[in-house]
Amino acid sequence: MRYLTFALGKGRLAQKTMALFEQIGIKCEEMKDPSSRKLIFTNEELKLKFFLAKGPDVPTYVEYGAADIGIVGKDTILEEQRKLYEVLDLGYGKCRMCVCGPASAKELLKHQEQIRVATKYPNIAKDYFYNKKHQTVEIIKLNGSIELAPIVGLSEVIVDIVETGSTLRENGLQVLEEVCPLSARVVVNQVSMKMENERITKILNDLKSVLP
Ligand code: PRP
Repeated sequence: MRYLTFALGKGRLAQKTMALFEQIGIKCEEMKDPSSRKLIFTNEELKLKFFLAKGPDVPTYVEYGAADIGIVGKDTILEEQRKLYEVLDLGYGKCRMCVCGPASAKELLKHQEQIRVATKYPNIAKDYFYNKKHQTVEIIKLNGSIELAPIVGLSEVIVDIVETGSTLRENGLQVLEEVCPLSARVVVNQVSMKMENERITKILNDLKSVLP
């Protein structure tokens, strides 16, 4: 039996995912050590490997078959546009992709004005403004602290993730439009889905049975 390999996005999502796997009898004790800098972990008994990657790289590993299965946010799946199967919504990591800005920017969105949009998610922003709203905008790619952009005058609005809304509130911004809901998803390599169908289907069914 060959190893089935899982790519997990580093951080909070990985912790939650391992807790969920424990519930279906898949354990990886090594991974729990918070001081460890190890990136790949093996469960010899079940012939499974887990590795930790940067979230946006998870779909890349899965598309190329370096991982059979990935656990990643819907935001990353939409942004990366990789060839893979999205097979299960795990329901945690719930948040929303939104257009945000100061209240004064509401009018700019209504009147289809040519505005600047700062975001870590240029593909999601383009799809929303060009294909759904048919509004021509200038997209500016940033790498984090997106909320700064409208405050310092880089852009009129942002497209970003809103979870509790406290980052927006504490910076005098608000949700202006909702783009889509987000949560953690399971993605599968297209070849693995055929070649390892039985093992993968069993894991997916076990996961489904413990989801709330
Ligand atoms: C994310 C997101 C928002 C914030 C939303 O940023 O980009 O800034 O969390 O959460 P809230 O609604 O609960 O305040 P993250 O912490 O990932 O850091 P980043 O600035 O590097 O994107």
